[in-house]
Amino acid sequence: MGLMDELHERSLRDPEGFWAEAAKEIDWVKPWDKVLDDSRAPNFYRWFAGAECNTCYNAVDRHVENGRGEQAAIIYDSPITGKKRTLTYAELQDKVARCAGMLRANGVGKGDRVIIYMPMVPQAAVAMLACARLGAVHSVVFGGFAANELATRVKDCSPKAIITATCGIEPGRIVAYQPMIDGALDLAPGIVQKVIVLKREGADWDMRPGRDVDWKEGMEAAAPAECVPVAATDPLYILYTSGTTGEPKGVVRDNGGHMVALKWSMKNIYNIDPGEVFWAASDVGWVVGHSYIIYAPLLHGATTIMFEGKPVGTPDAGVFWRVIAEHKVVTLFTAPTAFRAIKKEDPNGSLIGDYDMSHFRALFLAGERCDPDTLHWSEEKLSVPVVDHWWQTETGWPIVANCLGIEQLPIKAGSPTKPVPGYDVQILDEGCHEMPRGEMGAISIKLPLPPSCLPTLWNADKRWVDSYLVDYPGYYKTGDAGYMDEDGYLFVMSRTDDIINVAGHRLSTGAMEEILASHPDVAECAVIGVADPLKGQLPLGFLVLKAGVDRSDDEIVKEAVRMVREKIGPVAAFKTAAVVKRLPKTRSGKILRATMVKIADSEEYKMPATIDDPAILDEIEESLHEVGYASK
Ligand code: COA
Ligand code: AMP
Repeated sequence: MGLMDELHERSLRDPEGFWAEAAKEIDWVKPWDKVLDDSRAPNFYRWFAGAECNTCYNAVDRHVENGRGEQAAIIYDSPITGKKRTLTYAELQDKVARCAGMLRANGVGKGDRVIIYMPMVPQAAVAMLACARLGAVHSVVFGGFAANELATRVKDCSPKAIITATCGIEPGRIVAYQPMIDGALDLAPGIVQKVIVLKREGADWDMRPGRDVDWKEGMEAAAPAECVPVAATDPLYILYTSGTTGEPKGVVRDNGGHMVALKWSMKNIYNIDPGEVFWAASDVGWVVGHSYIIYAPLLHGATTIMFEGKPVGTPDAGVFWRVIAEHKVVTLFTAPTAFRAIKKEDPNGSLIGDYDMSHFRALFLAGERCDPDTLHWSEEKLSVPVVDHWWQTETGWPIVANCLGIEQLPIKAGSPTKPVPGYDVQILDEGCHEMPRGEMGAISIKLPLPPSCLPTLWNADKRWVDSYLVDYPGYYKTGDAGYMDEDGYLFVMSRTDDIINVAGHRLSTGAMEEILASHPDVAECAVIGVADPLKGQLPLGFLVLKAGVDRSDDEIVKEAVRMVREKIGPVAAFKTAAVVKRLPKTRSGKILRATMVKIADSEEYKMPATIDDPAILDEIEESLHEVGYASK
């Protein structure tokens, strides 16, 4: 048995012993009464019950106390604005303490929720850590989401305050945030009391007296606040993610278990030592940003990079190599789509040669399936291990990975390798029986889930059980389908629900359908995810118009596209829809989305036995030709 298998086996045989040992890396205010508390209702496990701690203290203050005050904590590199800035741990501590003081002066205390809607600037990290310092619960919303999505989150978690900026900056476009904030607060009135605004070049802000607070003035006036002890089981943050219906799910992350798992992962999975520079090229609005831009590297005493730019076009496809060389990044983590974008612009990787990357050790990819082409290209051009690893917002850290800090296993293209210690991953059939090796089934994780994984959904215990736990009793349903090979390597093949993955962003086609269905001329609709060489998948809509509609199809499609952009946001990347006469359905009325995907992707498909009218598939194929899909 290799080291990895040995450790994995030990973690499942004695989870309490395993995680109690890992927990020694965290500074606790009060130790736990029980490592794993399963005394609550069935399926509601809690890690480190009875313990008290503070995540901000562990991520910031203790490093200053232990001599890392002058070390860079955050390096902000923004090719989109031409700015660069380094914050040492001591500077970060000062800013976070002040920001916590500013929040407190504006009525935020332990347990209160705060929404953070910010671009990739260091103040976003400061705001998150300041909430953690006070024991307030942050909920970061990605800047590519529109007012409506923001309003849904405001209604669900009822934040006392929002921290925002005047704008985000996209290539060639300033994204003004005030219309989004004001729009959201009009849709969800009477909840948010204060809006703290970071003013940055690019857009103005019309300050609302009594509501709006200037970040700079608030910070200058604030008295620094100390870390407030919280229960290990108290929530640190809520992160909304696409669910199987239009309503996003509020994934809850606790303080204690989260710190233990993330700190452990930095050495054991990513093989990073304190003091080294780690870069997750994502956004703080996603789970990758929460875990691997902010919390894990800082809990570990490493240096993290906040990159405000794109892999291409800011200014070119060499920017990743420039950042790696300039800041001595040893390991990069991003989504395969970023590498597909780079490969498209610079197919020979010739820009890599312009930079000294001799210190660079590994590339980690996640967020979507890593296609073998991208894997091989990256391995060949970078000459370092390229590790595909699989996880979800719900877990907060990798479920399946090649754990470089334990033992580097051979890489198999298309597989994120083996389950990480703590996770008992099994492939199940519909009757909840384990499938033989090599056969596809539902990828499931035997309960209890390890530390950091969600204990429940925000204010929605029943939805937590219904969405994840009832289909396979005793297991957590990941929503992904795949198989395990003879060597225990996992292959993640597809989702079992309506979720699609666009440029590494998780989106619900059901949410898009709800919006399209609200168009006055649309009788019926469907949205599917079709293969895209750059973004992995793209959403594609089908609209059946109401009888008697005599406007042009083009006009209606344009309106539909605009509606999705306005309601969900540009991140939905919804640009194409086809007007069709009818949708293919089963005799019981279920839309045959999977067959439509196969036709759009020009893949072989079997005529579904239950189809009501096979002729409709030909009509669909014709309509798909017209919008550039289903090549003959
Ligand atoms: N604020 C406002 N709008 C945003 C945004 C933000 N923070 N992020 C993206 N958008 C907009 C984009 O400008 C684009 O708008 P457009 O329709 O007007 O062009 C739209 O949302 C779609 O964005 P995206 O799908 O990201 O496409 P892109 O063309 O801007 O960039 C990639 C494509 C591949 C370069 C980019 O997605 C990328 O770097 N992805 C990999 C890293 C990553 O973020 N992974 C996520 C989890 S690890
Ligand atoms: P998110 O919660 O946004 O991180 O998205 C999680 C989902 O993205 C997973 O359930 C998978 O469907 C997909 N995903 C993430 N990483 C991988 C990977 N390495 N391989 C295949 N799919 C992945």
